[in-house]
Amino acid sequence: MFRNITLLFCFTTFILLINESESKQFTRCGLAQELLKQKFDKTFVPNWVCMIESESAKDTSKVTKKANGSTNYGIFQINDREWCKQGKAGGKCNIKCEDLLDDDINDDANCAKKIQEEIGFKNWDGWVRSCYQKNISYVTNCFK
Ligand SMILES: *[C@@H]1O[C@H](CO)[C@@H](O)[C@H](O)[C@H]1NC(C)=O
Ligand SMILES: *[C@@H]1O[C@H](CO)[C@@H](O)[C@H](O)[C@H]1NC(C)=O
Repeated sequence: MFRNITLLFCFTTFILLINESESKQFTRCGLAQELLKQKFDKTFVPNWVCMIESESAKDTSKVTKKANGSTNYGIFQINDREWCKQGKAGGKCNIKCEDLLDDDINDDANCAKKIQEEIGFKNWDGWVRSCYQKNISYVTNCFK
């Protein structure tokens, strides 16, 4: 009995560690560089960085339950009502929401670009609150 509990504990810790190592917390300039690598237009990178800092604190593992019962996933806080689907690929981006929580932000980036094309930055409350009509030129320090 005791041994089983110990095993279960080790197993759980192991799974938690695996999940931990798959997510990523970006620095501000690390994120700016990654967004350029993901082919985001350089002009808009300050807006993306500001939005991401406000929405997910640059943490790819961030999951947020919204008041209306939907859930936001990952660094871009992509919503499961419209854009991704829980448990299997789906939504307008045809992705599994849980796949948005790892350290590979390529799938996230493609979906975020689609949201921005369709709705604009105003899709993200954090952008409206913290970035819209604000001085976000501090991000350009990352490109010097
Ligand atoms: C619920 O809220 C999220 C995030 O605020 C939004 O993206 C989504 O469209 C909302 N869904 C509905 C059905 O209102
Ligand atoms: C925005 O902030 C930068 C420094 O952070 C400053 O140099 C610049 O003058 C500011 N621009 C405006 C319009 O306030």
